[in-house]
Amino acid sequence: MNLITIDGPSASGKGTVSHLVAQHLGWDVLDSGALYRICAYAVLEYGLNADDEQAVAAVIPDLVIRFDVDRVYVNDQEVSEQLRLEHIGKLASKVAAYPAVRQALLDLQRSFLTNKGLVGDGRDMGTVIFPQAPLKIFLIADVNERAKRRYKQLVEKGIDADFEAILLDLQKRDEQDMNRAVAPLKPADDAIVIDSSYMGIQAVVDRILGHWEQVRVK
Ligand code: DC
Repeated sequence: MNLITIDGPSASGKGTVSHLVAQHLGWDVLDSGALYRICAYAVLEYGLNADDEQAVAAVIPDLVIRFDVDRVYVNDQEVSEQLRLEHIGKLASKVAAYPAVRQALLDLQRSFLTNKGLVGDGRDMGTVIFPQAPLKIFLIADVNERAKRRYKQLVEKGIDADFEAILLDLQKRDEQDMNRAVAPLKPADDAIVIDSSYMGIQAVVDRILGHWEQVRVK
């Protein structure tokens, strides 16, 4: 089965690593975080009460979601840029804690797996969505290093950034994602943990591809 799961905290480099691994293998990527961000976007777009779990979950079947390489469309409108905004990320973390929301996104996520092959990027890819994956990676990085990366990304985009605020925000997000009752962020029992704090992106990608070679020949 052509399936690799890559889970880990915010700003651990999962997104970039997942795309590079998939590109090398000629597979698709499931950016599951984007789905929770789309829910957050829909809450604001439809003026829903974010505290109302059932109302948030109920909107999901009405959304026509389409991924086209790194572009994301909801009901034929491109939302790629909006989804990356900080307030959307924060709200995504809140709605991702709702069991009804996670349930409503379950089949959609599993439908991304085809014979072509899939890299599943998220928090619960290896534990809940694809427990059958032959290779599960849990990508971690020191929170200070992650804050530095996020800060650098923002500055490079010409956005005003406050390092301390980013650090605090990441710590809060980690806490929320790790301590929720359903599908908390944690490595699957059979996951390989890679600490990317002091590794370049390519070294992480090569390490994962090396593990995949070993799994494939077994
Ligand atoms: O990876 P990201 O920052 O785009 O994810 C946004 C939020 O969605 C994050 O706070 C946690 C949540 N999430 C989740 O609960 N389960 C996933 N598989 C992916 C993301």
